[in-house]
Amino acid sequence: MKNTLYKELIEKAIEARNYSYSPYSGFAVGAALLAKNGNIYTGCNIENAAYSPTNCAERTAVFKAVSEGVKEFEAIAVCGGPSGKPVSGICTPCGVCRQVLNEFVDPETFVVVMPTSENEYETATLSELLPRSFKL
Ligand code: THU
Repeated sequence: MKNTLYKELIEKAIEARNYSYSPYSGFAVGAALLAKNGNIYTGCNIENAAYSPTNCAERTAVFKAVSEGVKEFEAIAVCGGPSGKPVSGICTPCGVCRQVLNEFVDPETFVVVMPTSENEYETATLSELLPRSFKL
């Protein structure tokens, strides 16, 4: 059951990765965020000539959801790698994205799904990726 759900999230993240705008790093990332209401929000990384305005795929997905009034999430799949090539290894969320996810989820139960090869993936809870996190 979870396996099917996670595979669907990975497929959607890979689709979203096709929209990545990453001419500066040449590293394309896609994400698919599962909300508790069943909706899936996708995102890709969007780079900028001034570099720092770059938005990661995970934050694109979170901001799309929150801007539509959805703030409760269960899991996210993240797929990244050199542009123009299929995803072949793990891409873990950056520290900023971990903190942004932490704002909206229960870190003990929220799952990050990360493909390690074409047919395999690893999972980790957000608290495993961001231990002793800061929250107000
Ligand atoms: N990137 C993501 O989209 N998500 C991550 O978690 C890691 C990094 C993007 C940012 C930048 O466009 C490119 O990957 C290289 O860092």
